[in-house]
Amino acid sequence: MKVKSLGYVVIETRDLASWSRFATETLGLMPAPSPHEDVLLFRMDDRPFRFWIQRGERDAFVRPGWEFATEEAFRAAVERLGAAGRPVELGTAAEAKARQVAAIARSSDPAGYELEIYHGRFLDYAPFQSPSGVSRFVTGEAGELGLGHVVLAALNFDDVHAFYKDVLGFGDTDLGRFFLAGGGADDPGVGFAFLHAQNARHHSLALGQLPPNESRLVHMMVEVASVDDVGRALERAQKNEVRISSTLGRHVNDKMLSFYIRSPSGFDIEYGCHGLQIDPATWVTTTSLPVSDWGHVWARPESEG
Ligand SMILES: [Fe+2]
Repeated sequence: MKVKSLGYVVIETRDLASWSRFATETLGLMPAPSPHEDVLLFRMDDRPFRFWIQRGERDAFVRPGWEFATEEAFRAAVERLGAAGRPVELGTAAEAKARQVAAIARSSDPAGYELEIYHGRFLDYAPFQSPSGVSRFVTGEAGELGLGHVVLAALNFDDVHAFYKDVLGFGDTDLGRFFLAGGGADDPGVGFAFLHAQNARHHSLALGQLPPNESRLVHMMVEVASVDDVGRALERAQKNEVRISSTLGRHVNDKMLSFYIRSPSGFDIEYGCHGLQIDPATWVTTTSLPVSDWGHVWARPESEG
């Protein structure tokens, strides 16, 4: 009855045209037919979409769509959300059809972040083809690894951490403490939790004990098949004058070789390869202190120019 994977993300933007260019020319996602003129859909595998970009009043992350493997698991999660005192609203048949799933429900976590859960994702049988030559996005043989991961910031870290474990069924992969202020005697460090769903991806969700930012997301990650796919994406980002938020580097805990770029909705997208895969049935939770083995040098905040 545990969450299966990160199925899709819903993102809001004031500028659909910028998102379209960013998605196709920098990320290398494939445009897919959309049900509405104010919505752009992008594929990365044989799911009908992984990115749902909607026109709106703000530039922000709206919510992730968490997949449950069966109708039974989905219904049980709806019940647990209600029992945990979270508002939960079942989607209409038309809303489920628009998301190309059998059934959908909306809720939120104790930090106020919106979320969707669903089961019964439709498949698209047209072959995936990247408009900018990405060889493959790593989502598993049958998409079971999900699209990547999302990272949320919450000051009520313990409540939010317990919610995702107890209510949605995530497991702890790594519980880190990052000394982002230099690690001196007066740096208490920041708590981080990296959580897996029921698939081999090291983490589908991470939580940081940080104040939420305006875009409502710390970052999300997509994974490609090879170092060349990462290097070519970095080259496209530079050519397209996309803000590079962090240089190339290798993370300690999930071994991801990645860089970070700023999306048109104000949050970063980590673009990487060679992420560690685990067996969620036997994994023993680790504790990582450093963030990166090498690299990942962050750009100065935009406010500082
Ligand atoms: Fe990440």
